[in-house]
Amino acid sequence: MGLYSKLVLPYLTDFAMRDKAATARRSELVPGADGVVLEIGIGSGLNLPFYSSAVTHLYAVDPSPELLAMTRKKVERMTFPVELRCESAERLSLDGRSVDTIVMTWALCTIPNPARALREMRRVLIWNRVTGGCNLNRKIDDLLTSSGFNIVDLRTNYLPGPRPLTYTYEGCAVH
Ligand SMILES: C[S@@+](CC[C@H](N)C(=O)[O-])C[C@H]1O[C@@H](n2cnc3c(N)ncnc32)[C@H](O)[C@@H]1O
Repeated sequence: MGLYSKLVLPYLTDFAMRDKAATARRSELVPGADGVVLEIGIGSGLNLPFYSSAVTHLYAVDPSPELLAMTRKKVERMTFPVELRCESAERLSLDGRSVDTIVMTWALCTIPNPARALREMRRVLIWNRVTGGCNLNRKIDDLLTSSGFNIVDLRTNYLPGPRPLTYTYEGCAVH
């Protein structure tokens, strides 16, 4: 890991992801999660304030120790147990069929091997749903369907900001 990844990128990510329009989308999507939840690529924990009391346990993974440290500071305010795991979505340590809901916002665009990560998500999911994030050049809907998910709700739109950066997929896919 270079100095940029350790000292600059985490703060840049946290700053960029605090965007007002993104926060509005978080407030619409994240309250839909229930039961045992897995958040993929939690970053600096910006979804945490939007989880409802329907969540019984949250597992959150991210390969960046620096971003997880930012999330850790927010965890003590949560009313349900939160377990942070420093790992990649392509290789989850969770047992098969152990989570009800997967939340993923603006992470599938970053994960190096999205197909492998989606296979892992299918493995650990009981039956519930995945909420999707944005991507710059990947067809998120195609990735989901070719990995065996069935998309039941999909909305695509541009968030405010430069067009090449703001095309967003939102929705639900079931196992
Ligand atoms: C653009 S940030 C989004 C962060 C957060 N989901 C949010 O909505 O604010 C992308 C995140 O994906 C994480 N990430 C990168 N590679 C990953 C992987 N292989 N598995 C899981 N997360 C990964 C990054 O560390 C970063 O936290």
